[in-house]
Formats: sequence, structure tokens, C-alpha cells
Amino acid sequence: NNQMDQESLNAYEFLTMFYHHSLVHANGAEEAKAYLTGRGLTEETMKKFSVGFAPYKSDVTTTLLEKKSFHLHHLAHTGVLSETEDGKVLDRFRGRVVFPIRNHLGKTVGFGGRTIRDEEPKYLNSPESKLFQKGRLLYNFDQARSEMKKLNQAILFEGYMDVITADQYGITHGVASLGTALTDHQAQLLKRYVDGVIVCYDGDNAGIEAAFKAAERLKKAGLESRIASIPDGDDPDGYLKANGKEAFERKILNQSATYMSFVLTYLKRQYDPAIEASRMQYIDEAIRYIAALTKPIEREHYARELADEYNLSIDTIMGEVESKRQHIM
Ligand code: GTP
Ligand code: MN
Ligand code: MN
Ligand code: MN
Ligand code: MN
Repeated sequence: NNQMDQESLNAYEFLTMFYHHSLVHANGAEEAKAYLTGRGLTEETMKKFSVGFAPYKSDVTTTLLEKKSFHLHHLAHTGVLSETEDGKVLDRFRGRVVFPIRNHLGKTVGFGGRTIRDEEPKYLNSPESKLFQKGRLLYNFDQARSEMKKLNQAILFEGYMDVITADQYGITHGVASLGTALTDHQAQLLKRYVDGVIVCYDGDNAGIEAAFKAAERLKKAGLESRIASIPDGDDPDGYLKANGKEAFERKILNQSATYMSFVLTYLKRQYDPAIEASRMQYIDEAIRYIAALTKPIEREHYARELADEYNLSIDTIMGEVESKRQHIM
């Protein structure tokens, strides 16, 4: 109910400050602070993102909440705290670095907590609740919004640390979905502020697969997307730290592929060009994607590319494209 939601919001706000305070003032948080510093975060960045640390001893958090007149069981029921089978209420993030997740109003509605000791799982999120619906939130959306609007562009990352590191390097229009595939709702949310999105996921197989799905979702929402590729299985966070902002902008963002050229490369990976039948399947699949493009100029551009690549006549390809198009329409 509303009253319990309000209590949860109050608790989230309180915990955001408490966790951040314990990190910065290193009350038993020396290891956590060293971990974050080791990952290159400045204190200013920790502050901007209200990064925090949840004490190892769970009852430090719960005792404090009780002292502030919160009802531990209410907080357990709404997912702010966790509860064991025998009814003991715990801080689920104990011993973890925490990243507050804020809604579009800037209110914390959940946390992501990262282990600093290689424990499983690497990240732990607040559970789904009325306030915390992962598919409807984007990490850093509240802070990125004005720059997004100004540039008419957003950068979509995979992880919290990618967003935070990019921000520290002055790239402040980055957001991330919360460890799940991009949803239609999130794509529509972006569409309200920008026309273009650069998908900048990790350079591993999982990242490429996820980028393909995200690009499809963005397209469905009417967004223009480009897909960046990070070399050697690295991620944007690692790349920025190793190569700096200038290289990231010049070699990654500016070199990002258009939706269609990414899709064609992605599809091609699944076929063997040395086998005729496989090559034909690829051409067929490629034509289906080209046919779905709304701009005639784009259809012709990619049809020409395909024709050149496989030594076919443009008329043949365009004929196929337009006939497939009849079926889609
Ligand atoms: P770092 O290792 O801290 O740099 O994290 P990362 O963001 O590079 O992690 P990764 O690329 O593995 O995952 C991307 C995002 O997926 C993370 O930021 C999380 O939001 C989410 N994620 C990763 N691992 C887990 C997990 O074990 N559980 C959950 N719930 N989410 C995860
Ligand atoms: Mn209970
Ligand atoms: Mn990843
Ligand atoms: Mn990553
Ligand atoms: Mn990473």
C-alpha cells in the first residue's frame, strides 16, 4: 500500500546516505574504498553516484533503521531488506559496494550491490517490487537526461561501472539497463528524449548478442541506433581506463556501425561464405532485413552493397527486396 511504499522510499533515501557516508568515512569500509579507488573512481564520482558500502555486520544497518523508527518487517515485505526463513531481517547488501538506482525523479528505488571479494553472485539487485521495476528503469537516467536532450543522443551501456567511468571521463549521457535485456518500455523512455542511441555493450559474445537484441528493440521504438564495438572482449569501463576519452570517442563512438551494417555483419557470422547454400541463406536473410528498412535510399544503399559483395546485379537484389517488402507491408 501507499504508506508502506512511502516508508520504503524514506528507507531507500536514508540507506543511500548511510551507505555513502560509511564508504567515504571508511567506517569499516577501508577495503571497499580501496577497491573502488583501485578501479579508478575519484571521491567526486563516488559522491555524484552516491556509491556506498553496506557494513559486513548486517545488524549495523537494521539497528540503525530501527532507531530511526522504520519497521523492519515492513521493509522486508517491500524488499528493502531481506528476511530469513525463521523471520530474521537482514541487510541483503552486507559487505557489498552499493550503487543506488534512482527513478526519473531522482529517488532511490533500489540498489545494485557488487561483491568486493569475488563472491557469487557478482552483482545482487533489489528484488522486483512496485517501486523497483527493472524493465522500466534505466540506471543514471535522471542525471543523464539533460545532456541526452542537448545532444539528442544517449549511450546505452551494459553495466553500472561503464556508466560511472564514462561520466568521470566527461561522457555524461550514458545509461544502462539493469542486468537484463533492454525492454520496449526502456526504449520508449529513451525515445521521449532522443532520436539516436549508441549501443555500447561489452566486446564479448554475450555483449554482441545483447546488442543485436537491443538494436531491434530501439528500432521498434523508432530510434536511430548505432552499435559500437569494443575490441578484445573488453568493456567500455576497461577501454576508457586503458585508452582514455579521446581514443574512446574517436575509435569507438565515431566508428560505431549503423544498425543495418551491424545486422549484416552479425548475420554473416552465422553463415559460412565458403558454402554456396549457406551463402544463399545469408543473402536471403539479408534481403529480408533490407526490405524492412523504411527509407528507399537505405534499401538501395544496402542492396547495392550486397550486390557488389556477391557479384549479383542490383536489379535482381532490388527486385527481391521490393517483393519481400510487399509481404511485410
Ligand atoms: P564489473 O565486473 O564490476 O566491471 O561489472 P560489469 O558491469 O563489467 O559486469 P558484466 O559485464 O559482467 O555485467 C553487466 C551488468 O550485468 C552488471 O553491471 C550488472 O548490472 C549485471 N550483472 C552482472 N553480473 C550479475 C549477476 O551476477 N547478477 C545480477 N543480478 N546481475 C548481474
Ligand atoms: Mn514478516
Ligand atoms: Mn558483460
Ligand atoms: Mn562488463
Ligand atoms: Mn566491467
